[in-house]
Amino acid sequence: MNIPTKKLNNGFEIPVLGFGTWFMGGSFERETNYDENNDIEAIKKTIAMGGSRFDTAEMYAQGYSEEILGKALKDYNRSKLFVTSKVSSANLGYDDVIAACKKSLARLQMSYLDLYLIHAPNPDILIEETMRAFDYLKNRGLIKNIGVCNFNVERLKEAQSKTKNKIVLNQVHYNLLFREPALKGVVDYCQNNDIFIEAWRPIQQGSLAKKGIDIIDKLCDKYSKAPSQIALNWLISQKNIVTITKASNLKHLEENLGSVGWNMGEEDINFLLNDYPIQLDRSNAVQLK
Ligand SMILES: NC(=O)c1ccc[n+]([C@@H]2O[C@H](COP(=O)([O-])OP(=O)(O)OC[C@H]3O[C@@H](n4cnc5c(N)ncnc54)[C@H](OP(=O)(O)O)[C@@H]3O)[C@@H](O)[C@H]2O)c1
Repeated sequence: MNIPTKKLNNGFEIPVLGFGTWFMGGSFERETNYDENNDIEAIKKTIAMGGSRFDTAEMYAQGYSEEILGKALKDYNRSKLFVTSKVSSANLGYDDVIAACKKSLARLQMSYLDLYLIHAPNPDILIEETMRAFDYLKNRGLIKNIGVCNFNVERLKEAQSKTKNKIVLNQVHYNLLFREPALKGVVDYCQNNDIFIEAWRPIQQGSLAKKGIDIIDKLCDKYSKAPSQIALNWLISQKNIVTITKASNLKHLEENLGSVGWNMGEEDINFLLNDYPIQLDRSNAVQLK
């Protein structure tokens, strides 16, 4: 199966569904005696089933997630893959960004990243310093594209004003259960300014993969799809929205891949937008900053 892509007016193109790596090798800390073979196998299976886009970060398992991804991808044709990594908010000073990117590339065993993101804003470090370092990395060919995560509209505009390169994507916590990016105008702003919103935690770590909510059950019947596929497709059927999910379990992986290749009707997108009955407590979510 080929995963469809979406394209910005400036030519930046990205597969609508990517695959996350957080918790591969540990959460915030590197796990000792970790059996990485299951994750490597899942990444290879993802590729065999049509996946090509992977998301990681220097922060995940203290770099171990990047190492695992690097081991899994090393025998594939790099030009057919799309790899994103992120610099942590503590490392947004000019020299730190450049050093962090080089370390990520070494752990990934790669010579460039398709997309490099600021993991979260840091008000204590001047954004012009960070963007200057991103421009340096792009000019040197170490990164192909520039993006951010968890930025509100004001920060997005400010970051864009400090670089001549286009910020192509803002990765935010967005799903049926958590609408902060829509409520705070980030989704609208990105849709109107040729920027992708990339929804992370699209199935809320499995919560949106369950039946039992009337509106979801009806749409599952209408489209002959599982709840997770409805939750994922609701995102990618919307303008300028792409997503990343994470699945080490092959059943999950197969199910999630069934979310692409079809489009939910406009009326059902709006039905879910307006009538989905539950919203997550904000304390369980990462706030936009
Ligand atoms: N930029 C940021 O600040 C930020 C923050 C958080 C995450 N992210 C990125 O976004 C990626 C995805 O987010 P996430 O991992 O938090 O959320 P997610 O994809 O919503 O949830 C992943 C969890 O749900 C399970 N799962 C996956 N598919 C399922 C299915 N069809 N049915 C039932 N359970 C399923 C997975 O289990 P198995 O692994 O056992 O299959 C895993 O435990 C991360 O891996 C990371 O790369 C970015």
